[in-house]
Amino acid sequence: MGVIERYRVYLPVTESTPIVSLGEGSTPLVHCPRLSERVDRAVFLKNEGVNPTGSFKDRGMTVAVSKAIEDGAKALICASTGNTSASAAAYAARAGISCIVILPAGKIAAGKLLQAFAYGAKIVAVDGNFDDALRLVRELGKAGNFVIVNSINPDRIAGQKTAAFEIIDDLSDAPDFHLLPVGNAGNITAYWSGYREYYDLGKSTRLPVMLGFQAAGAAPIFYNRIVEKPETVASAIRIGNPASWKQACAAITESHGAIDVVSDEEILAAQMWLARQEGIFVEPASAAPIAGLFKCHASKEATYSFQKVPALSRVVCTVTGHGLKDPDVITAQIKELKSVPATVNDVRRAVGL
Ligand code: F0G
Repeated sequence: MGVIERYRVYLPVTESTPIVSLGEGSTPLVHCPRLSERVDRAVFLKNEGVNPTGSFKDRGMTVAVSKAIEDGAKALICASTGNTSASAAAYAARAGISCIVILPAGKIAAGKLLQAFAYGAKIVAVDGNFDDALRLVRELGKAGNFVIVNSINPDRIAGQKTAAFEIIDDLSDAPDFHLLPVGNAGNITAYWSGYREYYDLGKSTRLPVMLGFQAAGAAPIFYNRIVEKPETVASAIRIGNPASWKQACAAITESHGAIDVVSDEEILAAQMWLARQEGIFVEPASAAPIAGLFKCHASKEATYSFQKVPALSRVVCTVTGHGLKDPDVITAQIKELKSVPATVNDVRRAVGL
């Protein structure tokens, strides 16, 4: 069951909206014992990497594309650091319409570019970053030939808020803390709107403290200024001027939360730690809240310290995209595999038995 079918009454659809779905959502909320032990709190990961195209974008895309088809759209357009383009391309293919994706040249993870190509999108690489690509999309969108499916489209945000509903449905209440990566800031906006909506309906007794994490080299909200040349290994969140900047600040202020930064080294260490300690392999951007969790727990420099947080608190981190999308950093660490003769003794020796 996709998110529109599951949460129809909370979404901007009617009986006559044609539903374009790939069975997105209903992703696992995984309790992580080693992570919980390390930070002395009960930690759960919302594993969005298991969505149909491997990221959380599918939740918003099913709503945005269904509405676009209802309105008679013949083509979609988006700017992307990779995941939005993969998702838009897939849902456009599903709906039988075309999709144009504008990408920052050379900065898209291999798996994401491959997805956009496989799903048949028209791909344009521009000399510039994501912020330049989004500016072009806004301009091209004005002519009315395309529906923009970036998170500036409110239907995207509406779809993405369903992740907060699922968490409350699974835990029977909202968590005390919610940690997530922040790039263009649509997702933190969507989660906060979902948490508030369920709270107002009496489906939860509390609102979580929202903690957003940016990469240190691409942290406009943290530094409170546009970053002209954002740089980070976490290419998904390599954004210098987030479209939902104001909404992200509102979510942080209203929830008494914080925005903080993590370094590329911390991100990559957290990515590997999570894969090896919990069996969950995520892309670098998705490891930012894990690095952030470690920082809140251990570092005096953390914007939000867990020192004063009761030990029984429940913490949810959203891991936004699958690790296989962005293999380059880890591929570079794999030593060349030399083959051994196909005998039990040779294999024993090779593994050190
Ligand atoms: N994590 C991943 C894996 C992402 O792809 C993105 C955004 C984010 C986190 C940040 O979410 O932008 O809502 O704050 N990716 C967009 C894209 C920008 O084009 O795929 P956000």
